[in-house]
Order: sequence, then structure tokens, then C-alpha cells
Amino acid sequence: MGLNKIEIIDIPKITDVRGNLSVIENDVVPFEIKRVYYLYDVPSGTHRGGHAHKKLQQLLIAISGSFNVVLKDGNGNQKTVTLNKPNKGLLIPNMTWRELEDFSSGAVCLVVASEVYEKEDYIRDFNKFLFKV
Ligand code: TYD
Repeated sequence: MGLNKIEIIDIPKITDVRGNLSVIENDVVPFEIKRVYYLYDVPSGTHRGGHAHKKLQQLLIAISGSFNVVLKDGNGNQKTVTLNKPNKGLLIPNMTWRELEDFSSGAVCLVVASEVYEKEDYIRDFNKFLFKV
């Protein structure tokens, strides 16, 4: 899986003088939404992620604050995406190595996922990931 399938998705935004509202329905992501979770209270300097998924696809959104996502395809290609807008989502296909870092104070990362939690779907060893891609 190359890095070309990674994309930034626009999340519909309803603007209002009372504040903005963004909504994610199934038509916003190219998979059926099975799970939503979020990372918060991430201490400064912490790295999260550090794995790939065999099947799972995800959309990551910086609901608040900012963080960087480092993506690797296992063929030597790497890119870093900064997420800092609540109406922009980073679509990460399966079999993509990801690391989340440089969380700002108060950052919240919302994750919309294509699968329920399955421990067996994770590849946490980078050498095993290299062997499988
Ligand atoms: P993990 O996915 O490794 O977090 P991150 O990629 O953000 O660093 O998950 C951290 C822990 O939480 C791990 O023990 C598995 C557990 N977990 C669940 O039990 N259910 C879930 O839906 C998720 C995402 C994680």
C-alpha cells in the first residue's frame, strides 16, 4: 500500500454566528463507521500510534489543538501531516504505519474507524510490517 491513498477529507461545516458545527455521516468516509474513539490529555512529548492495521481504515481529526502524524508505507516512503483543523480529516488506509507526535496542549484526536477493536488487527513490530507490505 503506497502513501498515495492517504488523503485529507473535508468534513462538512455549518457556520453560524453562534459557532461552527461539523458533522460526519457515512458519506464523508469511504467505509462504514463501526467505532469512534478519541485521544486527549496527551502529555507533551508523548508519541502515540507506532503501528499499522491489517484491515482497519481510519479518519483522524484534530477536534482541538494540533498534532503531527508521521506515515510510512514500508517501502521507504514517509510523510508528515499536521492536523490542526476540526473540519479536516486525515484518511489512513490499512497497512500504513503511523506515529502521532507533537501534541499541543489540550489537543484532542478524534478517530473514526472502519472496524471494531480487534487486538489481532494490529501490527506493532515495524520489522514485521516491512515483511508484510
Ligand atoms: P492503541 O491503539 O495502541 O493507542 P494509540 O495508537 O493511540 O497509541 O491503544 C492503546 C490501548 O488501548 C491498547 O491497550 C488497546 C486499547 N484499546 C482498546 O481497548 N479499544 C480501542 O478501541 C482502542 C483504540 C484501544
